[in-house]
Amino acid sequence: SPGKTERNMRGFTAILWNLNTEQRGMQLTAPLIYAVSVAAIGSLQFGYNTGVINAPEKIIRGFYNRTLSQRSGEPTSPELLTSLWSLSVAIFSVGGMIGSFSVGLFVNRFGRRNSMLLVNVLAFIGGALMALSKYSNEVSPTGLRGAFGTLNQLGIVIGILVAQIFGLKEILGTEALWPLLLGLTIVPAVMQCVALLFCPESPRFLLINKMEEEKAQTVLQKLRGTQDVSQDILEMKEESAKMSQEKKVTIPELFRSPNYRQAIMISITLQLSQQLSGINAVFYYSTGIFERAGIKEPVYATIGAGAVNTVFTVVSLFLVERAGRRTLHLVGLGGMAVCAAIMTVALALKEQWIRYISIVATFGFVALFEIGPGPIPWFIVAELFSQGPRPAAMAVAGCSNWTSNFLVGMLFPYAEKLCGPYVFLIFLAFLVIFFVFTYFKVPETKGRTFEDISRGFEEQVERQSPPSPPTENTEKNPMVEMNNIEPEKEAA
Ligand code: GLC
Repeated sequence: SPGKTERNMRGFTAILWNLNTEQRGMQLTAPLIYAVSVAAIGSLQFGYNTGVINAPEKIIRGFYNRTLSQRSGEPTSPELLTSLWSLSVAIFSVGGMIGSFSVGLFVNRFGRRNSMLLVNVLAFIGGALMALSKYSNEVSPTGLRGAFGTLNQLGIVIGILVAQIFGLKEILGTEALWPLLLGLTIVPAVMQCVALLFCPESPRFLLINKMEEEKAQTVLQKLRGTQDVSQDILEMKEESAKMSQEKKVTIPELFRSPNYRQAIMISITLQLSQQLSGINAVFYYSTGIFERAGIKEPVYATIGAGAVNTVFTVVSLFLVERAGRRTLHLVGLGGMAVCAAIMTVALALKEQWIRYISIVATFGFVALFEIGPGPIPWFIVAELFSQGPRPAAMAVAGCSNWTSNFLVGMLFPYAEKLCGPYVFLIFLAFLVIFFVFTYFKVPETKGRTFEDISRGFEEQVERQSPPSPPTENTEKNPMVEMNNIEPEKEAA
């Protein structure tokens, strides 16, 4: 069928081209691309701060050491140094924890655009920037939301790679320039602030939160590049009506109500599986790990991991529509477990040639992460919850993600001290546990409606339940269902 042919179509461009030509009013206008790209600078910021600390570890630790010894007049203990360093690495995730909880508060009060401006003023709450990149979902036409949503993970991985490259000693990773390397995070913040001045407020916010229909209409006309935006307005009004019908669900209710309990447990576990896979042990500490494994110029191996990470994020864009989320998550977790085992052997043996296997295994670890555990937990929450409970579920999931991210960043150096080359066995154990959990508990959500998914939960036969036929929307646009199940689909 034509739907099937489209489903099987590969290539980001192909998908965008399709949307562009076939869907009502789905033009990729310049103002729209601009608005979405400006929002994605937030993800770049997230990525930059994740990757920046890796290469200059030795230099900055040296600086801590000297400063402390000079101040106290005696040598600094290695324990204190490790504590200070792991805190320096992990502390930015605390911003993420606060950010993921307060995002609802900000965006509904000040608007999407102004919130982004505000958050940049508080640039240290970098994690909130990432949370706010959901602005792009607000301004995109329904059919493009999924495609634009994927800019989030892409922004993150590019940010990591850029930070790793800047960390080279030929660029900013030197004794004199490392403060500049860290301070450079201001650049995307400034860029975003300036660019936001030329961005309109989200029409969804204007119409639904502010009831300013005329303003919303003007902005929409600009973004869509057409005068007739009545269909968009109608859809938003329907969404607004649905929102007022569907009771807002609080966080405690999520856990109390049997309707949501299973979905929230799955959402939290998937976030934990992303972080406790050990991915950020690699992105925060790989240069040191490679160096201790006896690799010369370890920073290049780190940049290699960043490059593999970026390439496989693009690969996963195409894969996620062919295989389902559950399959990809399983393949990712299972593959990462195998790579963790190989890494452990390579790190333990330390033979001349075998140490290079640790690099290859790390690349495999990162590649498999981006196949499933990287992108999927971020968007599956939106697929498991309808409009009413969604904001509360997002806050809980976001906070679980940042808390576990913080714990890995903070505790990895201690674990490495304790376990030496066997440290990745801890992640191996987690990977196996999460694999088993996903196998037995996580339903496939691709191409299924909320009704179908929740019925599956109720019947406790989620894996076997036949997927309902895709709605018209998913048929036309495989990318939509990847990041969002829209309210109108719930009605369908
Ligand atoms: C995901 C994770 C983030 C990690 C990144 C690596 O976005 O949430 O913590 O650093 O992937 O690509």
